[in-house]
Amino acid sequence: MINFSELLWKPQRLKGSELSDLDGSVAEDLDQTSELHSIPVEEVRIRPDLRIALLTDPRSPGADRFRFLRMRLRELKAAVNLRKLLITSPLPQDGKSTVALNLATALAEGGKRSVLVIEADLYHPTLAQRLELPIRPGLGECLEKGLDPLSAIRHLEPLGWYLLAAGESSANPTELLQSEALAQVLQRLSSHFDWILFDTPPVAPLTDAVSLSRHVDASLLIVRAGCTPQESVKEALAALGQKHVLGIIFNAAEGLNRLYSEYYGYYEKK
Ligand SMILES: Nc1ncnc2c1ncn2[C@@H]1O[C@H](COP(=O)(O)OP(=O)(O)OP(=O)(O)O)[C@@H](O)[C@H]1O
Ligand SMILES: [Mg+2]
Repeated sequence: MINFSELLWKPQRLKGSELSDLDGSVAEDLDQTSELHSIPVEEVRIRPDLRIALLTDPRSPGADRFRFLRMRLRELKAAVNLRKLLITSPLPQDGKSTVALNLATALAEGGKRSVLVIEADLYHPTLAQRLELPIRPGLGECLEKGLDPLSAIRHLEPLGWYLLAAGESSANPTELLQSEALAQVLQRLSSHFDWILFDTPPVAPLTDAVSLSRHVDASLLIVRAGCTPQESVKEALAALGQKHVLGIIFNAAEGLNRLYSEYYGYYEKK
């Protein structure tokens, strides 16, 4: 079972008064005339190995942790300017893409909020394959060839969110991500979405995550419990800038499942 555990937040970034009138309803309502409505829907087959806990295992600790993360992010959005979030980790395989899939699903609430995932891991893209979608031009082509990003976005159901996948450009990913075209792509997309999540490569050994962090409001650092060495976490925090990191997500932490099953068992008996 997936077990996404605690989040470490940095509430010192917010003043007490800013937290008093928090309300999830502040996220902008979808603009009915939005160009998003003309994007055809692509159906995704929801399989357990997709590990989207809210859809495959909604009563699991993992699903609950993503509801909690959604609540905290909404609170922060109400208090500070928060729309573009980088999802990265110190090392490969810490669970970035899995967290991106889950968090997008949580934030989209079945399509009530407009959420875009940008697959900015151009070296090692996995999302289209994982979601069993045909490979089509994506972010790489927008950056390399000036493709309109709105024409490359895919509307995924029943996930309820949008994907700008990496695409199949053969140009150097690091050069593409550091080109001025990225700012133009984001400018074109920003106003259409309540949330934009970037699924990125790890902070080490590439520079991509750090250069991408310059384009977002904040970063979430995924740490794989029992795997990611403490030194790598410290290095990643230093590389991104500690103030820029909104929180750390411990992925695959042990111990919560037992606690939750005791509680669920307790409530089910009632
Ligand atoms: N909490 C979890 N429990 C069990 N398996 C998990 C969990 N999180 C991720 N995985 C699995 O671990 C593998 C790596 O996860 P994922 O692809 O999300 O990591 P990543 O950080 O995006 O990797 P990369 O650095 O290669 O992009 C995948 O097979 C995924 O299904
Ligand atoms: Mg990944």
